Amino acid sequence: MRLPERVLMTVMPPIDALNNRMAELAAEGHDVISLGQSVPFFGPPTEMIEVVTEALSSEPRIHTYGPDAGIPELRQALAEKLGRINGIDADPGTQIVVTPGSNQAFMVAMLTMLEPGDEVAIAAPYYFNHHMAIELCGGRVVEVPTSEEDGFQLHLSDVEAAVTNRTRAIVVTSPNNPTGAVYDRAEVERIARFAADRRIRLLSDEAYEFFGYDGASTFSPGSISGLGDTVITLGSLSKTFGMTGWRIGYMVADTEFCRQALKVQDAMAICAPIISQVGAVAALGVIDAFTESHLAELEARRAVLARTLDAIPDMEWMKTDGALFAFVRANPTASGQELAWDVLERSNVLTVPGSAFGSAWRDFVRISYGSSTRSRFEEALRRLAAYFGI
Ligand SMILES: Cc1ncc(COP(=O)(O)O)c(C=O)c1O
Repeated sequence: MRLPERVLMTVMPPIDALNNRMAELAAEGHDVISLGQSVPFFGPPTEMIEVVTEALSSEPRIHTYGPDAGIPELRQALAEKLGRINGIDADPGTQIVVTPGSNQAFMVAMLTMLEPGDEVAIAAPYYFNHHMAIELCGGRVVEVPTSEEDGFQLHLSDVEAAVTNRTRAIVVTSPNNPTGAVYDRAEVERIARFAADRRIRLLSDEAYEFFGYDGASTFSPGSISGLGDTVITLGSLSKTFGMTGWRIGYMVADTEFCRQALKVQDAMAICAPIISQVGAVAALGVIDAFTESHLAELEARRAVLARTLDAIPDMEWMKTDGALFAFVRANPTASGQELAWDVLERSNVLTVPGSAFGSAWRDFVRISYGSSTRSRFEEALRRLAAYFGI
């Protein structure tokens, strides 16, 4: 039976095939280490686990549907966090929608705003699920190039060049997946003002907002006053609290957009899992200490990775200041795709080929320094060095 082009043309990210092969190798008894998926090495705060454990026996509401936009106390806690940390003034009653992961927040936003053929400008290399969501909604991805020479920064001039009269949204992901770039604050402000002038929405994906190194901090364009309904902020608790499996994200937008978006949310999921929302409230209660507690470890790993890559002439990393990744140029005699598969087979280390993040990035691989334990991470780096004969 016929399936629509927008589904057929959407490509599954190669990470799935690599993960499957990794599982096969592990089942065959190989000692495999993943530097692939973006999953932090830590789990959720103990305070969250305690509250959730208690809720299992004391809160009957966890077994039923809740409000589409999220339970009131989570929206309240998010509004408090957004005001205090991000400088975003959001009405918890009408301007925050809790979603099952921020991937779904992105999808909800796309389904709410796109007509078939509408364009969405995204910085390339891009997070592949953004690309997939736009195409699945019948939109067209327009890539805004960034380059390793200036640390993959996003520039207004390149955004301007990508925008046409079909552009409905500009997506800004900072800290960035896959490059780790933290965008310059002044440039993000300029891009936001440009978007507002042109009546184009700016989607700010802040999934890695707490992962900034060497003093780099994320700027939320949703905090700029006077931009009206331009900015939509997408947030995630997944990486922040090591709770990727609990599926809690959120969208912050103007009242009318949220009202319309709730139709999409209702049709897709009704609401995010209530037990996860109860846990999220508890996690947000310890956000300052918890987010601070992992930074030194991640910074140390980033330094070890930089030293290892410095010693490998075939791998070049333009060090970036955020998220959990190094986006590394590999020896041009092998594509990133070939390299990732070969490193998996011969050294049992999983990395992600750059082509997953756009066809222009074939010479790259993404290495996550956030996952696995420190000793396993260092073991993976030893194997990587040995693979290159170091
Ligand atoms: C940039 C970016 N946004 C969103 C997500 C999805 O996060 P969530 O688990 O909240 O759906 C990811 C996950 O890797 C990501 O890298």
